[in-house]
Amino acid sequence: MGGSAGTTTLLVYLTLSAAHRNTRTNVCKWCNYSQPICEGGTCFSNCNLSSYCETSEEICVSLWKQDNDSVQVITLCHHPQYPLENVLVPSYNSVRCVMEAVPTRTGRLYICGCVDEQECNDKLIFYNDIDGYSLLHSREVVPVAVISLLPPLLLAITVTVLFYLYRTQRLRKRSKAWQEKPGDYSYRLSLTSSSQCNISIACANSINHNTELLPIELEQRVGKGRIAEVWRAKLKHSETVAVKIFPFQGYSSWKNEICIFTDANVKHENVLQFLTAEERVSSLQKQYWIITAYHARGNLKDYLTSHVLSWTSFLKMAGSVVNGLAHLHSDYTPCGTPKIAIAHRDIKSTNILVKSESECVLCDFGITLRLDPSLTVDAFANSGQVGTARYMAPEVLESRVNLEDLESFKQMDVYSLALVLWEMGSRCEAVGEVKTYELPFGSMMQEEPCIESIRDLVLNRKERPDIPLTWRRHPGMDVLCDTIMECWDHDPEARLTAPCVAERFSLMEQMDAVSTYSSGYY
Ligand code: ADE
Repeated sequence: MGGSAGTTTLLVYLTLSAAHRNTRTNVCKWCNYSQPICEGGTCFSNCNLSSYCETSEEICVSLWKQDNDSVQVITLCHHPQYPLENVLVPSYNSVRCVMEAVPTRTGRLYICGCVDEQECNDKLIFYNDIDGYSLLHSREVVPVAVISLLPPLLLAITVTVLFYLYRTQRLRKRSKAWQEKPGDYSYRLSLTSSSQCNISIACANSINHNTELLPIELEQRVGKGRIAEVWRAKLKHSETVAVKIFPFQGYSSWKNEICIFTDANVKHENVLQFLTAEERVSSLQKQYWIITAYHARGNLKDYLTSHVLSWTSFLKMAGSVVNGLAHLHSDYTPCGTPKIAIAHRDIKSTNILVKSESECVLCDFGITLRLDPSLTVDAFANSGQVGTARYMAPEVLESRVNLEDLESFKQMDVYSLALVLWEMGSRCEAVGEVKTYELPFGSMMQEEPCIESIRDLVLNRKERPDIPLTWRRHPGMDVLCDTIMECWDHDPEARLTAPCVAERFSLMEQMDAVSTYSSGYY
């Protein structure tokens, strides 16, 4: 049955409804024209009129008519044997109204039929061909998307522009302030932790160049090494920091040092605290900076020159040096996290800073080596003879380092540590009469000995710094003397390991605590 709709349909519904209430006829949506509403992949006729069909043969039908820019839906009761818009309803035995496409000359027509007493032609299901739905949907989606995306887009653009203006303003101010300083323009390097960085390329990859400038005012030069010099400096007019400045030629030491520092697992109370690194372009030449904590007491050599240590402060200070080295050598952090072991390779009293009356930190990681077990022997091939001649182990002086065994690098450090412990011990009141400070082998050679004279002394004559018998009168000192001698053994494999030395120190501390408690002698 073809039906007329509109206002008369409501009448049809009311008059027919009573007559058909007790017969099994379908109840269908019945609108001559409605604009469908689609939501989440389903469309509804948007027709608000319904009717009982006149006969039980009539089914509910929906027609979706679509031309270039409009969609309209016709809903009605209809006898399926008769054509509608010149087409027969393809299938209609279901309670679901599944749309099927019918090509026409004017556009596209979709038709569905269903049987139900509950307006089954209201919900229009597109299974195979969703063009009709997409057409309508795309028309709805585009304006909705535009309207909802526009405000955040505008906000993002505004924030970006404001941030850009703020940054350019700051950069202008800072570069003005830098005009009379040694490095008048700098790139701050924000450094990410990289546990995999090995000396060369990977280190460079861990550096993230950004243009943030750090307002540092250099105050006084406090040290000068072979490659770099160290300055005391003020950061942001408040905090005092140390700035290690490498010339252009010192790039690889700078890079190696920041590579060590930026391994998060290297952080330790007895390792110099790293703050940041910078690449500066002065008016003359490029410079590389490392900014760290500043320690006003200076290096251990200078400190020992002017201070005599009590046994208790010796134990704490020397113990902290040992702990710092044991941490570098360890495969684990104190928290148990696996880490790459590190060999310092230039342990000496000028590379140790005095943090307090009872604590030191290790510094200067310019030639430090990451003992990455995944690297091949070739990676360590050029790692033989480095460091400071005076503190070089016999196997280093002899160029007979076993590069196949990464423990060799730790054994060299332990030898140098023994010389530092000797230096500290020589300035401890527990030895009896404390002599003026002397470097190891200081009485046997000049200020800056060449490698040949050290080789002759340490390798050929197997000399070591003197340990007078008087030192051994003190029970703790006696343990220290044995420890030192086991650390500078000619045979690298016979040397104690750094963790072992750390254990000896805790033993000596216990002895000290007991004797202080029982006699009050110390
Ligand atoms: N000499 C070398 N590094 C130093 C630092 N961080 N603090 C004080 N003096 C130093």
